[in-house]
Amino acid sequence: MKTHRKLKTLGRFGLSAVAAAMLLLSPADSSRAAGEGATLPSIDWSFSGPFGTFDQGQLQRGYKVFREVCSACHSMNLVSFRNLAEEGGPGFSPEQVKVIASEFEVEDGPNDDGDMFMRPAIASDRFPTPFDNEQIARLANGGAFPPDLSLLAKARVGGVDYLYALLTGYEEAPADMELAVGMNYNAYFPGHQIAMPQPIFEGSVDYDDGTPGTVDNYSQDVAAFMMWAAEPKLEARHKLGFKVFLFLLIFSGLLYAAKRKVWSTVH
Ligand code: HEC
Repeated sequence: MKTHRKLKTLGRFGLSAVAAAMLLLSPADSSRAAGEGATLPSIDWSFSGPFGTFDQGQLQRGYKVFREVCSACHSMNLVSFRNLAEEGGPGFSPEQVKVIASEFEVEDGPNDDGDMFMRPAIASDRFPTPFDNEQIARLANGGAFPPDLSLLAKARVGGVDYLYALLTGYEEAPADMELAVGMNYNAYFPGHQIAMPQPIFEGSVDYDDGTPGTVDNYSQDVAAFMMWAAEPKLEARHKLGFKVFLFLLIFSGLLYAAKRKVWSTVH
């Protein structure tokens, strides 16, 4: 009787250990469902995997989408203009960055009269918020606040896959669902009702490099750009990882050779 009970407990322990192992081994974020609802599409990003790198052309296109569409409502105030010229990023030249920055206005001051004033941004400024304050932002967006986009690629379950899915996920609401006033149906937004109207449509942005202007391309490119904004050192990290991997490989070989030499006389 006692052994029987022991076996049962052991069995239960074994089961939970297997469950825990499965949880640990299950792939992170990419294939997880967003909120309640659709499973996220999985995109083959150039930067995924341990040795992935950003596609500069894609980041530049993503910046264009952000500039021409998203920056009308969203800030990105952890990113400075000069970051756009740093290694592992979109690869704009410092001259291009000056021009890009000068197209934005930032608040500065106070001047000698004690007044705040607006001036064109310079490379060391950060992407400003398009609204004077949160209240005005909410008034302009039916009560909802457009969040800062700097870290969203890291801050949302599903990460960059979720961002892509969200931008392509606008659909007709199902017949049995009543949307609140000013809300839009989105297959991937938790709860499916989002205050942001569909931001991009076919042809919204003119790409200079011949990439077709489809919603799918815009969404992938701007999601990749947001991934870079959230993790600008991704490439450096991957490169270091590769070097460490190579070092460990060579070091193991050396250790093995040394071990064989040391033990070669012992039989
Ligand atoms: C007309 C204003 C407007 C534009 C343009 C706009 N957004 Fe938004 N966005 C909003 C508002 C408002 C919210 C908050 C929605 C809510 O909480 O229901 C939001 C929320 C978001 C979210 C957060 C979703 C979440 O999970 O909480 C992301 C990501 C986002 N926008 C990305 C973008 C991108 C990328 C673009 C450009 C392609 C863009 N937005 C353009 C107004 C806008």
